[in-house]
Amino acid sequence: MRRKVVKKVLSVEQAEGRGARVRRSIGRKELRRLDPFLMLDEFRVRPPAGFPDHPHRGFETVTYILKGGVKHEDFCGHQGVISKGDLQWMTAGRGVVHSEMPATDGENVGLQLWVNLPKAEKLIEPAYQELLATEIPSTAQDGTSVKGKLWQSRRLIAGESMGIQSPVRTHTPVYYLDFEQQPGARLIQEVPQSWNAFLYVLSGMIKIQSEDEEEDVESEAHHTLVLGDGDSVQVTNMGPDKAHFVLIAGQPIGEPVAQYGPFVMNTQEEINEAITDYNLQQNGFENAHGWRSAAQK
Ligand code: CO
Repeated sequence: MRRKVVKKVLSVEQAEGRGARVRRSIGRKELRRLDPFLMLDEFRVRPPAGFPDHPHRGFETVTYILKGGVKHEDFCGHQGVISKGDLQWMTAGRGVVHSEMPATDGENVGLQLWVNLPKAEKLIEPAYQELLATEIPSTAQDGTSVKGKLWQSRRLIAGESMGIQSPVRTHTPVYYLDFEQQPGARLIQEVPQSWNAFLYVLSGMIKIQSEDEEEDVESEAHHTLVLGDGDSVQVTNMGPDKAHFVLIAGQPIGEPVAQYGPFVMNTQEEINEAITDYNLQQNGFENAHGWRSAAQK
């Protein structure tokens, strides 16, 4: 059964970080969370704005660059630049402190997704998976190109699209697909039945077609379209220009969520512990002692 749109929300631009602008999809007040997803931001940043030194605990951040780049640096010495088309999947686990700053003098644009971790994995060691644009599997078919990033856990089945798979391995089973469609192109993408799924439109005008034509929903850019039950989604580019959108789906974790900014745990007590650990630089935050990113010096 084709999934229909059950909620459509516009991401109005807001301030975030230090002087940066974001359009928040998941995570805004009309769409607080969509298990296992905690947040999706379409960020737009140029120097001197950015996201200087800040911590994370209890989840994963996935950064995908659409234009320009982001220079990142963490308290363990891990650093580099993620450029257009590149992907960084960071498992914050028990703790990461890092900075994320614009890599070019112009406009730097990307998406950052926060994927929750189940209780048993919230305090694992931090880890990174980085894929250059050229390493992300992509394929084109019938006027529709799908660029990689489909990520599935090794515990999972085919998180595939058009027969390709991403080398990224996720703790929480997730699909993340970036679609570009020529005008008039139509695609049908399988999405596991029990997963939560949504589309975020970056540009163009698309239509989500369900079983009943009266329930079809059209959408322009900067909208989030939450999908209802079903095992696939059908999307058609209705506009005169190329359409660009991402489809993100994941297996719900089904646990309570306690969140305080960049700390996401199961209970308020664990949040208090996270704040204490960060302030006292312990239990995963030891390296924060005396550390400042180059961007902050
Ligand atoms: Co961060």
